[in-house]
Amino acid sequence: MLKAIMTQGSDKASSTNCRSSIVIFISVVVLIFSWNPAMLCPHMDYDWSGWNASDLRPLAEMDAWPADPANKLVYARLHSVTDASGPESLAFDSNGGGPYTGVSDGRILFWNQGGWETFGVTSSVRQVTDVCNRKPVALKNEHICGRPLGLKFDAHGNLYIADAYFGLLVMSPKGGVAHPVSTQADGVAFKFTNDLDMDENGTVYFTDSSTRRPRRQCNLLIFEQERTGRLLKYEPSTQQTTVLAKDLYYPNGVAVAKDSTFLLVSLTSKSRIMKYWLKGPKAGSMEEFADVPGYPDNIHVTKEGDFWVALHSRRTQLQYFFANNLWLCKLLCGVPVHYIGQPAHSMVIKYNPAAEALDALEDRNHVTTKFLSYAGERDGVLWLSSVFCPEVWTMKLNKTNSNQQN
Ligand SMILES: *[C@@H]1O[C@H](CO)[C@@H](O)[C@H](O)[C@H]1NC(C)=O
Ligand SMILES: *[C@@H]1O[C@H](CO)[C@@H](O)[C@H](O)[C@H]1NC(C)=O
Ligand SMILES: *[C@@H]1O[C@H](CO)[C@@H](O)[C@H](O)[C@H]1NC(C)=O
Repeated sequence: MLKAIMTQGSDKASSTNCRSSIVIFISVVVLIFSWNPAMLCPHMDYDWSGWNASDLRPLAEMDAWPADPANKLVYARLHSVTDASGPESLAFDSNGGGPYTGVSDGRILFWNQGGWETFGVTSSVRQVTDVCNRKPVALKNEHICGRPLGLKFDAHGNLYIADAYFGLLVMSPKGGVAHPVSTQADGVAFKFTNDLDMDENGTVYFTDSSTRRPRRQCNLLIFEQERTGRLLKYEPSTQQTTVLAKDLYYPNGVAVAKDSTFLLVSLTSKSRIMKYWLKGPKAGSMEEFADVPGYPDNIHVTKEGDFWVALHSRRTQLQYFFANNLWLCKLLCGVPVHYIGQPAHSMVIKYNPAAEALDALEDRNHVTTKFLSYAGERDGVLWLSSVFCPEVWTMKLNKTNSNQQN
């Protein structure tokens, strides 16, 4: 069996190029060390039903995508987050205070004149255990400590939080312990609440990235091309939660357009930004907005109505190869092959509402920034953060970087 597959592999290599041969060689080596003879992957309940290689844009198109050969993100300024890691997204309060950010031990921190302080926590049980005070908090304890991701203040100063494990939460303007306002929709519990934004009336739009896998298995959402994510709406005045769209591939960042006529949602594993219409003749329908050269995370709307998209990393040729050879993925399902060659290549792209890329900033060799999860503009400064690193970055934008239509 193994021999037959290896022969198939060599045939492919000879019919493609030299790079593919190297890929096959590495794959076979990994295979020999990781091959699960039963081919059943008993330790993981893989579901490959979402795979659709024909949906992947040809790698050659990457050249036409926005790029920044000057690597301007190299010049971003670093601000360490002390005693914590993974500030996934940032928010400012109505007085301009902050930024506020959720970190990997379940706390919400805020920047208070020269230092990070604790504003609140998302877990109500963290007092009865000390696992959340260990540094770093083990991934396996995330469901105890909480993992705050998307953040946004409403008009009354309440902080809405998308906690990966506890659902949609609200924290009072004084901070403290957040309480859940939505944990399920249509009878299906949230498994991986991820990001949120609000429209002009305070209606909350948020994502549940998967109904099967928790955040700690987020890499598998990409590996499997899992498609059970949902786009949701929470109406604070009626406390109703509505499913706007389901069966989505890893829905992640959400940003409501300045005029509230539509929202953008990133589908991380598909490298797509989708547009969901909130008003007008197309209300309730979804269409493609942009195709991005990596794994998109949070999206943030500027005062002028443009959108900054943060890419966690770029797609690579190796990932394209695996995507088109599902048989190899199945064989390798015991190892996280999607990580082979995953570069920390940082990139952010700014789009106008018509989906034209206005700007792109990169740090191809991750000299300064890496694994970006958030990019947001404020008073001519671009704020960046990372779901992995203990870091926040800022970068002064040129006049030409901001809205070019005006
Ligand atoms: C696979 O992707 C192609 C191209 O986007 C699409 O036309 C087709 O409907 C998809 N198939 C399934 C089963 O989703
Ligand atoms: C906000 O409320 C106003 C008044 O009820 C309404 O006209 C408008 O359509 C609402 N906006 C959205 C995005 O639903
Ligand atoms: C701003 O403009 C200067 C001079 O043209 C350039 O060197 C720099 O890279 C630009 N910065 C950004 C963030 O675009």
